[in-house]
Amino acid sequence: MHQGFTLWFTGLSGAGKSTLTTLLHEEFKRRGYKVEVLDGDVVRTNLSKGLSFSKDDRDVNVRRIGFVCDLLSRNGVIAISAAISPYESVRQECRALVESHGTAFVEVYARCSLDELVRRDVKGLYKKALAGEIEHFTGVSDPYEEPANPDVLVESDKETPETSVHRILAHLEERGLIDRA
Ligand code: ADX
Repeated sequence: MHQGFTLWFTGLSGAGKSTLTTLLHEEFKRRGYKVEVLDGDVVRTNLSKGLSFSKDDRDVNVRRIGFVCDLLSRNGVIAISAAISPYESVRQECRALVESHGTAFVEVYARCSLDELVRRDVKGLYKKALAGEIEHFTGVSDPYEEPANPDVLVESDKETPETSVHRILAHLEERGLIDRA
């Protein structure tokens, strides 16, 4: 059986976390790995249903995701998290939890300029946030703490999703977390 690990995406809404996660999910399955995805939008409809976007509730949400990632990855599953996870301290907590079981935690920062996110605005949320219709919107009226030292940096305003996926897979191969294709 292959080893489990946690692949932790962080970045603003619309920066590419879900897109990359979907592509990686397919690729890992194609290679015969066991993989589960915890997407912020989806988790908030079940495990974290009812939580707000206050700092406290975001921290609860992100800790829950980290808890599940830990359970999965220590049992041989590749656990992928795709939540904004805006606070460095809670990301570090999740890393510490996963690593405490001897399992790797790989942080991927999906970076994208706010100008580009506003231009794309796939969900129409930036327009509303800029108009003051959504309080505490990450990157507009709520903080996002950039990771100090991400394991991989991907930039959806500078590279294609395929290039980002390729670079993430290469990093995992180099670390021996997955076999070379
Ligand atoms: S987190 O901060 O707790 O990690 P999470 O990833 O679960 O956030 O949820 C983010 C998603 O919720 C966004 O992609 C967006 O669709 C939606 N959303 C709704 N309100 C907000 C808000 N105030 N700030 C950020 N995202 C929001």
